[in-house]
Amino acid sequence: MRILVTGGRGLIGRAMTERLVAEGDEVVNFDRLAPTVAAPGIIKQGETTCLGDLYQAAQGADAIVHLAAIPEAGVLGDDTVFSNNTLGLFNVLKIAADLKISRLVSASSATIWGLGAETCFAPQWLPLTESYPDNPQNAYALSKMVGEVLVTAACKTTALIAYSLRLTLVLSEANWKVEGLPRLQHPERGKEIVFAYVWIDDVVEAISRSLRSPGSPGSHQILAINGPDVLADDSPEILYHRFYHGVPWNGGTSFIDTRRAYETIGFVPQHSWHRMAPSRENRHA
Ligand SMILES: NC(=O)c1ccc[n+]([C@@H]2O[C@H](COP(=O)([O-])OP(=O)(O)OC[C@H]3O[C@@H](n4cnc5c(N)ncnc54)[C@H](O)[C@@H]3O)[C@@H](O)[C@H]2O)c1
Repeated sequence: MRILVTGGRGLIGRAMTERLVAEGDEVVNFDRLAPTVAAPGIIKQGETTCLGDLYQAAQGADAIVHLAAIPEAGVLGDDTVFSNNTLGLFNVLKIAADLKISRLVSASSATIWGLGAETCFAPQWLPLTESYPDNPQNAYALSKMVGEVLVTAACKTTALIAYSLRLTLVLSEANWKVEGLPRLQHPERGKEIVFAYVWIDDVVEAISRSLRSPGSPGSHQILAINGPDVLADDSPEILYHRFYHGVPWNGGTSFIDTRRAYETIGFVPQHSWHRMAPSRENRHA
C-alpha cells in the first residue's frame, strides 16, 4: 500500500513511518517541518492547512494516516490550535474524497471525554467507553471532537473507511521521564486522566490494524485506544477507593474500556509502563 502519513516527524509519526516501511508499505512522510535525522519514506514538507501541499503529497495514495496536529492546548493560541487541527483534517478529508482514497486512520484524543483539563475530571461512571458523553474542556479537545464530526460527515457522502482512534496519553522511552514518571510520583496528576496511558508500540499496532482490517465503505469507527493497566503504582481497586469512591464501576485492569477496539480491529494492548520503571521502593532509593 502507498500510505500518506501526516505529522510524520512527530512522536507517533516517527514510530509509525518506521513500522509501515518495515511492513513493506510505501510511505509518504508529510510534515510542516523537515526531518532532523534520516527519516523513513518519501519526505514531503508541507502544511495540512494548504490543500495544494496535500494534493501533491497524496497522489497515488491508498490510505492516509492523519497525525499532524498541535497535540495539546496552551502551547499556542486557542485559535491557532483549533484552526490548525480542524482545517488540517477538513483538507485531508477533501483530498481523500477528490482522489478517491479509500481509507483514513485519524488520531483523536481521550481529551474529548474531558480528561487532562484544568478542571479535575469527575467521571459519572467507569470505565469510560466510546459512548461516554463528550465533555471537551479546551480548544485542543474541541478540535478533536469537531474532527470526529467531520470524519462522520465525510463517511456519509463517500465510500471512505475511517477510524478515529481516541488515544490516551502516549508514552515512549523518549518522553517517559517528562510525561510518565511524574504521574507515578504524584498520583493526583494521574487522577486527571483516570491513570490512563498507552505505550507507543500499542498505538502503532492499533493504527496498523486499522489500515488492514476489512471495514465497510462509508463507515466511521471511533475506538478508544488505551494501555493494559493503570499508570500508577497502586492497583485500580486502591485508586478507585481513593479517588472515585461511589462512582459506578465493575472493576477491571484500567479505567478505559478498549473492548470495541478488540471487536473491531482485534486490538489488545500489550505494552505496560512497568518495563521503564523499577518498583516504587527502589525508585526513590
Ligand atoms: N502524544 C499524545 O499523548 C497524544 C494523545 C492523544 C492524541 N494524540 C494525537 O496524535 C497525533 C500525533 O501526536 P504526536 O504526539 O505525535 O504529536 P507531535 O507534536 O509529536 O507531532 C505532530 C506533528 O504534526 C506536525 N504538524 C502540526 N501541524 C501541522 C500542519 N498544519 N501541517 C503539517 N504538519 C503539521 C508537527 O510538525 C509535528 O511533527 C496528534 O493528532 C495528536 O493530537 C497524541
